[in-house]
Amino acid sequence: MEPTRDRAWATLNRHTTSEPLLKHALAVEASVRAYASKYGEDEEFWGMTALLHDFDWEMHPTLDQHPQDGAPILREEGWPEELIEAILSHAEHLDLPRDTLLKKALFACDELSGFVVACGYVRPTGLDGLEVKSVKKKLKQPSFAAGVNRDDVTKGAEELGVDLDEHIAFVIAALQPIADELGLRTAADAA
Ligand SMILES: [Fe+2]
Ligand SMILES: [Fe+2]
Repeated sequence: MEPTRDRAWATLNRHTTSEPLLKHALAVEASVRAYASKYGEDEEFWGMTALLHDFDWEMHPTLDQHPQDGAPILREEGWPEELIEAILSHAEHLDLPRDTLLKKALFACDELSGFVVACGYVRPTGLDGLEVKSVKKKLKQPSFAAGVNRDDVTKGAEELGVDLDEHIAFVIAALQPIADELGLRTAADAA
């Protein structure tokens, strides 16, 4: 099987109907692809991995199943082991080594992409003009996007070896081009 973005999107949609979950996949894909580009790595491959990282969440919505029970489904479809291993490694509870740049980037972008999107939803101009300091302020408010694990956000940046402020700025910039797909308003809407 030739892994392609179209195939990854098809696999994701075969198992996922929830709009927020599809948007989460698209957001993490955009951030991880941006890091692939920054590091001169394979954008298509990194993007597919990110797109599929939570593909089984709808059928396996607990950590005693996700993502480990999704892996055999991906294997059956013929996805490369490198992609499957990276997906497995985003799960803290599996305690797998994040020993490649792709694994580190996926983990670093997973929670933060969702958080940045959440910040964008509550602003009239979405991600346009969203500043790092206001993202950090919201990270300190436990009630805001309470599902996002703050420790994973800081740990992700540390493991990737990037400064947290720069990481946040990088993810904001990576998500801006797909703001529309994510259902975010832009400065143009507010004008
Ligand atoms: Fe996950
Ligand atoms: Fe995720």
